[in-house]
Amino acid sequence: MCGIFGIITLKPRAIGKDLVAGGRRLSYRGYDSVGCAVLSDGKIDLRKDVGKVDEVSKRLKFSEMYGDRGVMQLRWATFGAPSRTNAQPHLDCNGDMAGAHNGNIVNTPQLREQFIKEGHKVRSTNDGELCIHAVEKYYDKGFDMIESIRKAYEDLRGDYAFIIFNDGEKRLYAVKKGSGLVVGVGRDEMYCSSDLPSLLPLTKKIIFLNDGEIVSLSPKEAKFFSISDGKEIKKKTVSYRKSPEYARKGGYEHFMLKEIHEQPTAIEDLVELLDESKYVDKFLSFIDDSDKVFLAACGSSYHACLLGSYYFGNIAKKFVVPVVAPQFISQYGHAVDDKTCVVLVSQSGETKDVLNAMNYAKEKTDKILGVMNVIGSTLMNSSKAYLPLAAGYEVSVPATKTFLNQCVMFLYLAKRMAGESCRDMGELSKLVKSTLNSTTRDCKKAAAYLGRWDELYSLGYGSTYGIAKETALKIKEITYSHCEGMYSSEFKHGPLSAVRRGYPVMFISSPKDTDVMVSHINEVTCRGGKAIVIAERNESMVKNADELIQLPHSGDYFSPILATIPAQLIAYYMSTRRGIDPDFPRNLSKTITVD
Ligand code: M6R
Repeated sequence: MCGIFGIITLKPRAIGKDLVAGGRRLSYRGYDSVGCAVLSDGKIDLRKDVGKVDEVSKRLKFSEMYGDRGVMQLRWATFGAPSRTNAQPHLDCNGDMAGAHNGNIVNTPQLREQFIKEGHKVRSTNDGELCIHAVEKYYDKGFDMIESIRKAYEDLRGDYAFIIFNDGEKRLYAVKKGSGLVVGVGRDEMYCSSDLPSLLPLTKKIIFLNDGEIVSLSPKEAKFFSISDGKEIKKKTVSYRKSPEYARKGGYEHFMLKEIHEQPTAIEDLVELLDESKYVDKFLSFIDDSDKVFLAACGSSYHACLLGSYYFGNIAKKFVVPVVAPQFISQYGHAVDDKTCVVLVSQSGETKDVLNAMNYAKEKTDKILGVMNVIGSTLMNSSKAYLPLAAGYEVSVPATKTFLNQCVMFLYLAKRMAGESCRDMGELSKLVKSTLNSTTRDCKKAAAYLGRWDELYSLGYGSTYGIAKETALKIKEITYSHCEGMYSSEFKHGPLSAVRRGYPVMFISSPKDTDVMVSHINEVTCRGGKAIVIAERNESMVKNADELIQLPHSGDYFSPILATIPAQLIAYYMSTRRGIDPDFPRNLSKTITVD
């Protein structure tokens, strides 16, 4: 998704370099074009094009851009195809105001038509340009920048954040409505960005904006204003100690493979954090004291919630409903009251669908909990209590270590809630490591077979249902083949008709469900289908599976977590065999900040 990064400095300097570095730190979000606008010698220097940060900035010499204020933008196309004209930043009609946005202006068609009728020079079909004309419209009528932004805010529907500056006042302005926006306080310079981690290499002094707030930055001060009445508001500066580790591939061919191999350490760090955290009990008390509990999330995070609900139900005997975040509003919204606890689960903590669910729930209950990986994210800042995933920086678009840590977190919480000891959780990291070592060869072999098909199924039962769905998502995401994840007992209710000679079906089984799985496997193999099974070794599985990818013996609750490893590896090897870069699959983005 789009990312915006702005800088204002006391003296003009080669700020292009810092803008590019900021943009690079936002590039994990996924994008198709990049651009930079800097005020240089009283004129706005705008350079932009389709492509990757390093390639475009080298070609257009962003690093040489010199001035005292500027903005960099990474665009992930929604309104308007990826093109140089649609790339951001954009200029106003006369080229004396520039800015860029992140988010979606949902009334783009109407506004665009209106601005064209009013005589604005609308150059692109991108919604970000409308933010600039919306401010320009009022500024040209004589309103100051704060008033102009306030009025533009009324015209621009949707959720967004934008940064804007003009060639007159030595200020950088930004506004937040639904999308991330964070300010960094430097020495004689100020920064603002879509996220916190991208600012930390420049400063540790951070100010978070809330929705409906404007910031006016000069090199020495940040002033905040409320959209509702235009009055100045005081904000707290928060100090951070550490910069995030900016990832390198560290000898691996892709970040995805590196992140898969980081899972033993990620689990160890998480279990240690939970063992020592005084917030676990507080977090659990909200769940315990509630009549209704929902786990709301999207994509991989939702799949972890499926397993989470299984753990809470079977271990802690707590009825917890897993739900896709937008469906939470439409299907269960009516049931949310002050005795309801809503746990929002998100790697990024910025997923728009998740934040919508959070904002909806907040109107009805104050029991809003968050589980996220990105520290300083909107979800973290808006939850009543939160627990971090402690998985470290995840670069690759496909979630791997953050997904696994979500599953581990839920198992830990369910055990604690049930009053069970979590000491055995210390073993998980070693088991994951040995699964990585023992299954890689078989996964490559399975990937070679599965990669010959453009459609397949991944089936789970009980605790492995969420893992089967996650396996299917990983395969779809990075191989571009269709893979459907299902409850294995549902297969005979329709999809079984797809099975023919050699047709591939993956089965993921926990030890407990061996018997039922074996019968589902046979429904496929007796019709000529090929059953590739991920499970612990036992006689029955050996006899019935066409190929068995063996998990170490670990029991019913650990085995779904371990089964995730071969599933990730299979998807990874299928992807690379097809020549796809699994880190940046087409059309996708790491952080989805639109509806
Ligand atoms: O940041 P989140 O966990 O909220 O993201 C939700 C989904 O977009 C995400 O899990 C997505 O499905 C993964 N990239 C898939 O690997």
